[in-house]
Amino acid sequence: MMKTRIIGTGSCLPKAVVTNDDLAKIMDTSDEWISSRTGIKKRHLAKEETTASMSVEAAKRALDNAGMTAEEIDLIILGTVSADYVTPACACEVQAALGAKNAVAFDVNAACSGFMFALNIANAYIQAGLYRTALILGAETLSKIVDWNDRSTCVLFGDGAGAAVVRGDEQYGLLAFDQGSDGTKGDVLACLGRTNNNPLIETDQETAYVHMDGQEVYKFAVTTVPASLQKTIEAAGLTPEDIDYYALHQANIRIIQSVSKRLHISEDKFPISLDHCGNISAASVPILLDEMNRGGLLKPGTKIAMSGFGGGLTWASAVLEW
Ligand code: COA
Repeated sequence: MMKTRIIGTGSCLPKAVVTNDDLAKIMDTSDEWISSRTGIKKRHLAKEETTASMSVEAAKRALDNAGMTAEEIDLIILGTVSADYVTPACACEVQAALGAKNAVAFDVNAACSGFMFALNIANAYIQAGLYRTALILGAETLSKIVDWNDRSTCVLFGDGAGAAVVRGDEQYGLLAFDQGSDGTKGDVLACLGRTNNNPLIETDQETAYVHMDGQEVYKFAVTTVPASLQKTIEAAGLTPEDIDYYALHQANIRIIQSVSKRLHISEDKFPISLDHCGNISAASVPILLDEMNRGGLLKPGTKIAMSGFGGGLTWASAVLEW
């Protein structure tokens, strides 16, 4: 049976870097508060970059890393909550810019789990024998949907894009996955879109921004993520000790430390990118993977457990051999 193997990665961060000290100059916060509660030191914010432009750059790097051409891609799935357009999908913009004319392209909205959902969807298509090669991405310009007057959320997020090329492979690839949703808790991390607006009603639309109940999200993450990882690792026929690296969604260092404790696995096995790019929702996991790949951590057969979690609520994990 063909396995879904990641054969190339790429990422792109905006040029502008904003440190915690920079933020402290424009709002009532401090490097001490942000660092000690989250582990975040700085983030990249988009000025001229867009969700699509960063996605295209990340995709080109991933194709290059995989040694593949755009025409060889059958499927493009992009996880985002901050696409530039309501329509066309960001994935279609990527398709056009790359000239991936043989691909079917669409976006997935699963917030911070978006890349992991995209991976699992691509895997389902590959397992079904419908497609052989997919480009999957997570890309966000969160800085346009966070409230810059709300210090409890705006300091947490950043902008960027990550991509991976996946392909059916006889030897290595995805061994198991788990995913879930709990729509009853949607309100703990939400951003309202457009409200009704038509000749039948009077509207006075205000721009809506992300709002979050940080402690509820924290509680959800530290219970759901270790349970989902345990389940996936077991389904892969492995134990937590067998895993070489845990590539988790980069929301908060304290969530990652808690997962490491619950699984009784050293923090050394949990690579971090949130210190220099903050939480980039769907883009966090693929950016981290690209840093691990380019940093030389990943060799054929290296066992990785990945997990994304966030708004929806949604969560998704996967265990794979590189
Ligand atoms: N700078 C300084 N003070 C801040 C601040 C900031 N940027 N943001 C909030 N505060 C203040 C609040 O006003 C509040 O003050 P008060 O007690 O006087 O009312 C206080 O800090 C709250 O601090 P605390 O109770 O320590 O917050 P916390 O321990 O819950 O930490 C989070 C807040 C957001 C860091 C934490 O809840 C968290 O990480 N949650 C998970 C969020 C997440 O990862 N979301 C994305 C998942 S995909």
